[in-house]
Amino acid sequence: MKSKLWITALITSAVIATGCSANNTNSDSEEMDHSNMSEEEMKNMEGMDHSNMDMEGMDMENGHASHTNPLELNNSTGENELALPPLVEANDGVVDITAQQGKTEIFEGVQTDTYGYNGSFLGPVIRVSEGETVTFRTKNDLLEPTTFHWHGVDIPGEGDGGPHQLLQPGASEDVKFTVSQGAATLWFHPHPEGATAEQVYKGLAGLIYVEDENSKNLGLPDEYGVNDFPLVFQDRQFNEDKQFDYQAVRNEDGTIGDTMLVNGTLNPKLTVGKEKVRLRLLNGSNARNYTFKLNTGDSFQQIATDGGFLNEPTEMSEITLTPGERAEIIVDFSKYDASSDVALVNEADSILLPFKIDEQKTNSIEIPETLNDYVVTEKEKNLPVSKKLELFGMGEMVYINDKQFDINRIDFTQKQGETEIWEIYNKPDSMGGMTHPFHIHGTQFKIVSIDGKEPPVELQGWKDTVAIEPDQTVKLAVKFNNKGIYMFHCHVLEHEENGMMGQVEVQ
Ligand code: C2O
Ligand code: CU
Repeated sequence: MKSKLWITALITSAVIATGCSANNTNSDSEEMDHSNMSEEEMKNMEGMDHSNMDMEGMDMENGHASHTNPLELNNSTGENELALPPLVEANDGVVDITAQQGKTEIFEGVQTDTYGYNGSFLGPVIRVSEGETVTFRTKNDLLEPTTFHWHGVDIPGEGDGGPHQLLQPGASEDVKFTVSQGAATLWFHPHPEGATAEQVYKGLAGLIYVEDENSKNLGLPDEYGVNDFPLVFQDRQFNEDKQFDYQAVRNEDGTIGDTMLVNGTLNPKLTVGKEKVRLRLLNGSNARNYTFKLNTGDSFQQIATDGGFLNEPTEMSEITLTPGERAEIIVDFSKYDASSDVALVNEADSILLPFKIDEQKTNSIEIPETLNDYVVTEKEKNLPVSKKLELFGMGEMVYINDKQFDINRIDFTQKQGETEIWEIYNKPDSMGGMTHPFHIHGTQFKIVSIDGKEPPVELQGWKDTVAIEPDQTVKLAVKFNNKGIYMFHCHVLEHEENGMMGQVEVQ
């Protein structure tokens, strides 16, 4: 108890001294329980780096990166080869997906209690094609209710797997739909009211690849596990017994951890050829943001956003993904050799994923200059705003338009097939506020503007989740191709669970 008060005082004074918000550290001291923190974690907090904070107020530029991720990530030692999720395709039009619990050897010689789809930890990559009619045969083998939500999938509301479609333990449900969107890297995870964050934390997350005629003909690296890799980034905190104790580490402003798992692998490395390689990045974390870059300082090409290809490969030196967001990038490893020290790192230079170059493996793939024909039309640019949303608050006091989620309240209605402009404003609080990754179910939208300006080129593509910084206003062109009730929410899972979520009914 004594140490709890002490660290509370410390954080409070740090907040006062710098005049900025503590964001994920949760300045709401009453709620804060540090009794389970190790010495080292305490020191980390004590040594929180404020040197890059603007004393005038807040470091709006990167959405308070230094505060959003106060708990540093351990470096990957690279001792384990990255796990590759099984690739699954429909068999007679059916894909079986079972949520189950199990034990996983994440740390050598230790069994950690985990959740997974069709296995003990995480899920497969489900590959479908545009135009294909497929049945996801879902089954809940957990001892608690869950749902199966298809994040980014254009699907009727009744199959979307939001909090309305609760599946009791032992129950099964067929979700049949026709894939009606273009090539994209999507994902799936549970969405039961009040238990989403914990179920995802324990391992319920998988990927969905949509392919189409375009993606099959572009000649991009597409050999699964050879030159085309899924990378699911999740930070976790393990207790002394190397177990997940979500309730003990839960942070109302987003649970973060010091241990990086990529595809569930601790201390991963990825062996790649001396060639162009496609990496499909998913930020599958509850709350942590990542700014991915190469430790060499070399650039890479971004080829896709959440919901499809960019029109052209875009040269990038780093890319930021908030929870729920995806991006596909091409890294050219042909300029390195077996002795090169190449790794994917994040902004704080923590090593996320070191690469080992296998010089025997090469290709001569040319990345095409044109990948897609995405466009925000003049008509869309000139449409009046018809839905206004204001995101506000921190911790348990998080709101959309001053309201918290109520499963019995429909917040908006929209007509099927009709494009509307949603304007979303992230209202800062007296301490600055934080970036909220805003997500809408059942659609891919277009970012029309950010603070009145055209979005940067890497956001000129289909999106289902958009990072909105404090005081930013984002306009989206949103169209639903199906009917039903869909959620929209902050993808910091604890914010979503604390009520930063609403419902739109498409009629
Ligand atoms: Cu990725 Cu409402 O979810
Ligand atoms: Cu949020």
